[in-house]
Amino acid sequence: MIDQSKNRTVKTEELPSYQAWLQYKQITDDRLHAIYKKWLTAINVVTSSVIVDSAVSELLLGVESMLGYKPVIAESAEEATVVLGTVADIGVHYDEAFSDLGEDGFEIKVSRNKSGKKQIFLAGQLDQGVLYAVFNLLRSLQMHRSIDQLATIETPKNQLRMINQWDNIDGTIERGYAGKSIFYQENEFRAEERIRDYARLLASVGINAISINNVNVWDTETNLITPKYLPQVRRVSDIFNAYGISLFLSINYASPITIGVLDTADPLDQRVKDWWKEKATEIYEYIPNFGGFVVKADSEGRPGPFSYNRDHADGANMLAEALEPYNGIVVWRCFVYNHRQDWRDRNTDRARAAYDHFKPIDGKFMDNVILQIKNGPMDFQVREPISPLIGALQKTNYMLELQITQEYTGQQIDLCYLIPQWKEILKFDTHAEGEGTEIKDIANGYTFGNKLGGIAAVSNIGDNPNWTGHALAQANLYGYGRLTWDPTLSTEEITCEWLNLTFGHESDVIDIIEEILLKSWPAYENYTSPLGIGWMVNPNHHYGPNVDGYEYSKWGTYHFADRDGIGVDRTIETGTGYAGQYFSPNAEIYNDLNKCPDDLLLFFHHVPYSHVLQSGKTVIQHIYDTHFQGVEEVKEFIDKWAQLEGKMDQVIFANVQERLQLQLENAIEWRDQVNTYFFRKSGIDDQHNRMIY
Ligand code: GCU
Repeated sequence: MIDQSKNRTVKTEELPSYQAWLQYKQITDDRLHAIYKKWLTAINVVTSSVIVDSAVSELLLGVESMLGYKPVIAESAEEATVVLGTVADIGVHYDEAFSDLGEDGFEIKVSRNKSGKKQIFLAGQLDQGVLYAVFNLLRSLQMHRSIDQLATIETPKNQLRMINQWDNIDGTIERGYAGKSIFYQENEFRAEERIRDYARLLASVGINAISINNVNVWDTETNLITPKYLPQVRRVSDIFNAYGISLFLSINYASPITIGVLDTADPLDQRVKDWWKEKATEIYEYIPNFGGFVVKADSEGRPGPFSYNRDHADGANMLAEALEPYNGIVVWRCFVYNHRQDWRDRNTDRARAAYDHFKPIDGKFMDNVILQIKNGPMDFQVREPISPLIGALQKTNYMLELQITQEYTGQQIDLCYLIPQWKEILKFDTHAEGEGTEIKDIANGYTFGNKLGGIAAVSNIGDNPNWTGHALAQANLYGYGRLTWDPTLSTEEITCEWLNLTFGHESDVIDIIEEILLKSWPAYENYTSPLGIGWMVNPNHHYGPNVDGYEYSKWGTYHFADRDGIGVDRTIETGTGYAGQYFSPNAEIYNDLNKCPDDLLLFFHHVPYSHVLQSGKTVIQHIYDTHFQGVEEVKEFIDKWAQLEGKMDQVIFANVQERLQLQLENAIEWRDQVNTYFFRKSGIDDQHNRMIY
């Protein structure tokens, strides 16, 4: 890209859209600059480690960029205005005590010492806490907080704060909408600078684990756990480790056959057990702090223990035993269902599958296994109920899985800010232990006293210069990290942070972007599939409308629309019984046509088009109204965005402007196809006589 004013090519790394929320914009307010400068002149580093080195270089980079000078590294306590290190090391050099922080916690203390000297202590319980303290401080400075507001004590609410890359070694990304993989190209690992910047972005929001290859592990990727690739995996692992992030690999359950010489992957066969034990030993020789395995087994055609008439506890425990001596863990996914269903068969219900498979084996898993459960029973639709498995499992470690990449929510062409959706999920009351048993407290292990807990999500980044394709989709990655750190943060707090860090502080700019972000998920829901029914997308790639795209397929994702009505009967009395998988009173609410929330009505009930919703509208009129409304909302986004021209980075402005136009085309297509489809099926006119083709 040519920067006309400087008449030179701007490197990708210099683009604000590449730097994302770590732009460290210059502080131009003289008063604030002067205050910050007094407190940030000399840094005394009392802990020596790779992670603390990362923390120091980030601090130097951030201060230099915001304040225009590099603080000196002070050798003695006397000179220092900033002291940085672990609680224990600070204790050796300074007369300072800190709170009980928990493993990944940190404390920032702002004080004056006995001689009146200003000092900021950035103390971590462990090295990674020091790094988090630095990122927290830098965020506060970018938010223009006063010195009084810098002090804080934080401990993350989730132990595992994980990102899943669905990258393939040929450089493609399964469900990737932002270019190619930053990790791989043509069966080789890519240059590492960008991976380091990704690690910085992730660590800055508290992520501490990453799996770097697709959960569908194809032939070449199966070899990632062999000496052919392990040295390169080690290099990537080192990069992430320097930012407190441990590295996991997705593995092929059938590896003993595919890359070994065995003719079975039966988890109870001693030869298979020994094979994995040797494999684990080998992996840990290359990568001593390897995190562990992510496993998609017996799911969508991937191999698993079912082939040997074993259950998933048998499969997971066999791997867990192999990793146990090295403190590795097995992340075992619960996305297990019959993907070869017959649409004529009304008894098999994909929504039931995870619960039916895993509830009976609750308590059979080893302590270093953690099950990973998608937020909904289907697959990351714009609206789904909460997976009833969350709360039902009470004797097993598990975590929540979200999808940042917008597979079903607009593919980073359409804007869909997902933080409000995730907040709804995290706040959902399962009633598993009576009223107030929220998903956020179950996922982190608190409710049932599990040994491990956390949140994982599928990443939305690729090698696009702005990481996420749609520049505003960065907000989803940012917000995801912040929520894994603290699920009680509000949407407003997270949005405000991201906006300040990315766009600065001009309220006329911030207010408009905030409004667009907050309206984007409802708008997307309005113009796509209605009332919780989901799907209606084009098969395979999943973008754009196709009402019957999956209706007669094998995937179990039906809507059953006919001339009289639409929806899936999942009630206990006449349907698949899925509603009964919830705790009371959720089960009764979902099961009852008159109590079921409108936005999930068609997920639980088959109703006539004339059925009157709690909103007072009929189902058919709701469909028409929301689809017209959704398109109008996108037009409003376009108008609002146009007001920002010249007020922000031109690259970001143009990127979003272009995407919004594409979104409008998509929204119009959705509106017209859905409205026409249901008009033709029902024969019922729109009360407002709008154009339905
Ligand atoms: C969805 C998605 C797949 C993915 C799968 C999974 O079905 O479309 O691409 O592999 O989820 O989560 O395993």
